[in-house]
Amino acid sequence: MSKPLRKVVFPVAGLGTRFLPATKVVAKEMLPVLDKPLIQYAVDEAVDAGADTLIFVTNRYKHAIADYFDKAYELEAKLQEKGKAELLALVQGTLPRHVRAIFVTQPEALGLGHAVLCAKPVVGDEPFGVVLPDDLLWNGTGKGALRQMTELAEAQQAGVIAVEEVPHDETDKYGIVDATPVDERSASIRYMVEKPKPADAPSNLAVVGRYVLPGRIFHLLEQTTPGAGGEIQLTDAIEALLKEQGKVLAYRFEGIRFDCGNKAGLVRATMHMAMQDPKLAPTVRAFLDQL
Ligand code: UTP
Repeated sequence: MSKPLRKVVFPVAGLGTRFLPATKVVAKEMLPVLDKPLIQYAVDEAVDAGADTLIFVTNRYKHAIADYFDKAYELEAKLQEKGKAELLALVQGTLPRHVRAIFVTQPEALGLGHAVLCAKPVVGDEPFGVVLPDDLLWNGTGKGALRQMTELAEAQQAGVIAVEEVPHDETDKYGIVDATPVDERSASIRYMVEKPKPADAPSNLAVVGRYVLPGRIFHLLEQTTPGAGGEIQLTDAIEALLKEQGKVLAYRFEGIRFDCGNKAGLVRATMHMAMQDPKLAPTVRAFLDQL
C-alpha cells in the first residue's frame, strides 16, 4: 500500500433482482435517494477519498450509468439559455473535471470477485478501492468511509475492509470476519467466511461494501474457484491475501450504512436524507405523524 489510492472500482454488473420490475430497464445504481442516484453518492465518496480514476464494471444493460456521467449537450445548452445557473452546475457536476470514468464489461454475472477481476487491466499493480453503490454510507459533514479507510491503509500498509455488526440471524447474508481488536475502530482479521449460517458464524462482524486492496488481489482472484452460491467471491480472495500477507484490517467506519440493495434500506435512506434537508424535513415529519 505504498502508493496513494487513485483508482476506485464500482462493480455494478449485478442483476438487481430485488428491485424488479424497475430494474428491467433502470440500473439499481440509478435508483434515486431524493434527487441523486445511488451511484452519485458512491462517486462523491470515492472522489472525497482522493480518487481520480473511476472504473465502472457494468453489463450490456447499464448504459444509463455511462450516460449519466457523460456531457448532456442539449440539456446544458437549454439551461444556459434560460439562465438556470444552479441547475446547470448540478448537471455538470456529476463528475469533477479532474476525474475520469472508465467502463469495463463483465460479460456474465459470475460474482463480485469476478466483477472486480474485470478491472485488472485498468487498475494494474496499485492499491485501489472497491465501492458497492448499493451500500450508501453517510457521515454528515465528516470524512467519508472510503477516506477513513484509505488513511488507515496508508498508515498501516495493509488492506482494509469495512465492517459493521449485524443481527446474529443475518450472518448468512454477508461475509463474516473473525478479528482481534487493535483499537476502537480497527481489528486484525484472523479469518473470513462468506455467508455462514448463524450457527457456524465466528462473529456478527459483517463485511460491508467498501474495500481498500493491493493490486496483488487480482492474482489471487485469478486462482479463486467459485464459492458460496457458485459465484467467484471477493471474500475468498481476501482470505487468501490474509494467508499470504498476514495482515488485513477490518474497520468499523464512522457513519451510518443504508443497505439500498433492498426496499426497506432504500426507504430508510430516503427518509434520512429528507430529514437532513431543512426545506423537506417539516413536510416529511408532518406526513409521518399523519401516517
Ligand atoms: P448483490 O448481491 O447485491 O446482487 O451484488 P445484485 O445482482 O446487484 O442484486 P440482487 O441481489 O439481484 O437484488 C453486490 C454488488 O456486486 C455487484 C452488484 O452490482 C452489486 O454492486 N455484482 C455482483 C457484480 O458487479 N457482478 C456480479 O456478478 C455480482
